[in-house]
Amino acid sequence: MPQLEDSTIWLTGASSGIGEALARRLARIPCRLAISARRADVLEKLAGELNEGPATVRAFPLDVTDRDAVRQTTDAIAGAFGPVDVLIANAGTYKPDDPEHFDAEICDDTMRLNFSGAVYCIEAVMPAMIERRSGYIVGVSSLVGYRGLPRASAYGASKAALINFLEALRFGLHHHGVQVSIVNPGFVKTPLTDKNDFEMPFLMPADRAVEVMVRGMERGKKEIYFPWQLAWIFKLMRVLPFPLYHRLIAARTGK
Ligand SMILES: NC(=O)c1ccc[n+]([C@@H]2O[C@H](COP(=O)([O-])OP(=O)(O)OC[C@H]3O[C@@H](n4cnc5c(N)ncnc54)[C@H](OP(=O)(O)O)[C@@H]3O)[C@@H](O)[C@H]2O)c1
Repeated sequence: MPQLEDSTIWLTGASSGIGEALARRLARIPCRLAISARRADVLEKLAGELNEGPATVRAFPLDVTDRDAVRQTTDAIAGAFGPVDVLIANAGTYKPDDPEHFDAEICDDTMRLNFSGAVYCIEAVMPAMIERRSGYIVGVSSLVGYRGLPRASAYGASKAALINFLEALRFGLHHHGVQVSIVNPGFVKTPLTDKNDFEMPFLMPADRAVEVMVRGMERGKKEIYFPWQLAWIFKLMRVLPFPLYHRLIAARTGK
């Protein structure tokens, strides 16, 4: 089982939403917690606050789409805390898209952050994990990565890519003692979903979501999904034939 206690944990996207709630939750565990996101001031404030607890928390401001900066940050974390034992690649965003105003730049930007950003972090920590024959990689994807949904072609594609990438990577890493978990949240109340103007079934508070995440991580679950009600609906929809799936979603969303 992966060990969170007494480990060096690197969490990206820690300045708000799920990442911030997770940083708060992990800081209750005695560990060395490195938190990253672009907004240095927010991170520093959070690290200062969380250092009151049993964990040692330090801010490592970073844009995960900058591959060189990701490598430098990994070295900086190793210098301060020792090599990363647990990577939680959580940084990500959602921009709705629309075929009537299609702009491929939304796809490029979304892939660069949600997919390549995670891949760069994994690239930076993986060699040392393989060498030490231990490590734990957690990627935050989405239930939206299961199948295409209206106004989420860029987002869904980036999350589908991440699920597939991590699932494939797990086969190779397994023999090196490195574990991989894929986190697939449904709707969680964060600044990301606060922008949504559509119905979000089973919307979950971030503190509840991270409890499920930590429980799943402690058990080394291959997939951590929540809320279970929405997850099971999505899992069922994954096996529907294309025409039936299309009819169902079109009727439900009016698209
Ligand atoms: N909320 C949901 O319902 C939901 C559902 C499924 C999956 N997810 C996934 O969960 C993750 C967290 O989402 P959230 O809802 O917590 O969103 P959020 O509140 O918008 O937080 C996103 C985090 O990512 C960071 N970030 C954005 N661009 C970055 C960059 N280039 N480099 C480094 N950090 C960057 C942001 O910090 P800075 O702005 O300071 O960089 C922030 O800390 C995302 O991967 C999202 O796709 C969320």
